[in-house]
Amino acid sequence: MRPLRNHPITLHPDLLVGLSSGDDAGVLRLPDGRLMVQTVDYFTPIVDDPGDWGRIAAANALSDIYAMGGTPSTALQLIGWPRGKLSFDLLGEVILGGVAKLEEAGCLLIGGHSIDDPEPKYGFSVTGFVEPDRLTTNAGARPGDRLVLTKPIGTGIISTAIKNGKADPEVVAEAIEVMAELNAAAARVVAAIGVHAATDVTGFGLLGHLGGMLAASGVAAIVEHRAVPLIDGARELAEAGVVPGGTGRNLVAAERFTEFGDLDTADQLILADAQTNGGLLIAVAASKTLELVEALTAEGARAAAIVGEVVEDRPGTIGIR
Ligand code: CO
Ligand code: CO
Repeated sequence: MRPLRNHPITLHPDLLVGLSSGDDAGVLRLPDGRLMVQTVDYFTPIVDDPGDWGRIAAANALSDIYAMGGTPSTALQLIGWPRGKLSFDLLGEVILGGVAKLEEAGCLLIGGHSIDDPEPKYGFSVTGFVEPDRLTTNAGARPGDRLVLTKPIGTGIISTAIKNGKADPEVVAEAIEVMAELNAAAARVVAAIGVHAATDVTGFGLLGHLGGMLAASGVAAIVEHRAVPLIDGARELAEAGVVPGGTGRNLVAAERFTEFGDLDTADQLILADAQTNGGLLIAVAASKTLELVEALTAEGARAAAIVGEVVEDRPGTIGIR
């Protein structure tokens, strides 16, 4: 999450990544030289099934560790629950989903906190570790790099369709699997091959997170919009105006740093769509791009799409082609 304009920024010689760069997670150098990565994420229900919500919330919270090149180690569970309104059996199903996802990631649940809350909320604070030479911040993209995305987008639009009861069950099932899938395999490939920068595509959408990476790296990018992978059904929903408020706000924000050319509104909204546990967005040297794409495909990544190129231009700006 980006800091508020007047938010005080902590500075310390061992704080390698803090609030100032708007990166995925904080990174602290420990006395033994290892790097500790910390993040937190929680949200209100976005799908109907409590177990799916738990799985998605956990995979989403873990993702910021993967986006930094780290391995998750421990998690603390955060729960807001309307005790008078919803049963604790339902909460039990949420927790089972969340804990199963942590187990899949090899991350230990070691504590947490719950409060009575009129609206249910669920998520985790996650701590992980990363080797110093494997840290992937959002600040290392260089002109000539290719941009690679490891999951299709459209989960914000489809989540809104779920809320409105307008989503086709097959489209919903696909979106749930995308949102619940760990970014672990993609992160392993990134670590093995070595890249210049990585972030995960979440609430600010593809354009917002790319813009953040470009600004932090002092570069610009061209995005090939037809190369951006979409979940089936997302485009039709966007054309029908099924769009979350966050996506609309993302688009307004993106207009300040994006040149859309003649792209129509539905396509603009899709590129700005607020994702939950979206894929990794990677800036990789042109010479390593094919190797990265092949390794991602071999590891079963949902997508391994070359969506654009980093260029030398006004830092933080995006051109759509
Ligand atoms: Co992130
Ligand atoms: Co986050």
